[in-house]
Amino acid sequence: MNNNDTIKKTLIVAISLCLVCSALISFSAVELRDLQEANKTLDKQNKILSAAGLLEEGIDTSVLFESINTKIVNLETGLFDQNINITDYEEGSFSRNPSTSIELSSDVDIALLKRRENFQTVYLHYEGELLNAIILPVRGYGLWGTMKGYLALEPNFKTIIGLEFFDHKETPGLGGEIDNPKWKAIWKGKEVYSDNGDVLISVIKGSVDKSSNDSKYQVDGLSGATITSNGVSNLLSFWLGDMGYGPLIDNMKLQETKDV
Ligand SMILES: Cc1cc2nc3c(=O)[nH]c(=O)nc-3n(C[C@H](O)[C@H](O)[C@H](O)COP(=O)(O)O)c2cc1C
Repeated sequence: MNNNDTIKKTLIVAISLCLVCSALISFSAVELRDLQEANKTLDKQNKILSAAGLLEEGIDTSVLFESINTKIVNLETGLFDQNINITDYEEGSFSRNPSTSIELSSDVDIALLKRRENFQTVYLHYEGELLNAIILPVRGYGLWGTMKGYLALEPNFKTIIGLEFFDHKETPGLGGEIDNPKWKAIWKGKEVYSDNGDVLISVIKGSVDKSSNDSKYQVDGLSGATITSNGVSNLLSFWLGDMGYGPLIDNMKLQETKDV
């Protein structure tokens, strides 16, 4: 038997290899953390612009995003807040912290969020002095986890410009079709509110009957993915309702929104 073929030496080589590999992995995880965060931010900016139809080929996302005015809104009052620094705002910690969020009872928690943060970021795009789009962060449970995205509305606060998801765990080919460009294109021009302000937008089962009066409030369901489709309907109902951006939208419609 060769001298190297001992259990002791095999273990030393195996353990050394494990140590070197784990050191390399830890080092890269720490070194790449900032880059990962930067990429996540860039991806969110890309989705915000895409929802509002503002992406332009050949122009950097970060350059295009300079035209977006980010505001913090108090969801309770529907007024913009200037006390919280936008760079300090983090949705996850705000929604978990009892001092910056409320617990949702099961009768209102249609998007299965458990808690709702008291403040959110909203994104405004102006053309000159005129509001061109408002982009609202939305989220809610699908089949496998929370789907997070952005809904962009026209300045009438009821016509959809676009809906984009940037994070979800739905199955590719089934619920994952929420990312399908053909399905996303259906949302443009749909309306979210009835004339008396009820949230009517929903993803139905099957295809929308275009001759129906309700078709402007309806989007084709994803086949084989009714649970995800219902999740999308529910998250939109929640965030467009009184517990979500309802108060802000009411204020903005009345042009009464003032900075706190
Ligand atoms: C492995 C697997 C993954 C699935 N992924 C999803 C999904 O991402 N979204 C969804 O709504 N349904 C998914 N389903 C199907 C649901 O269990 C359920 O059958 C479906 O939502 C019903 O939709 P339908 O009425 O359009 O058939 C999945 C099923 C299996 C077996």
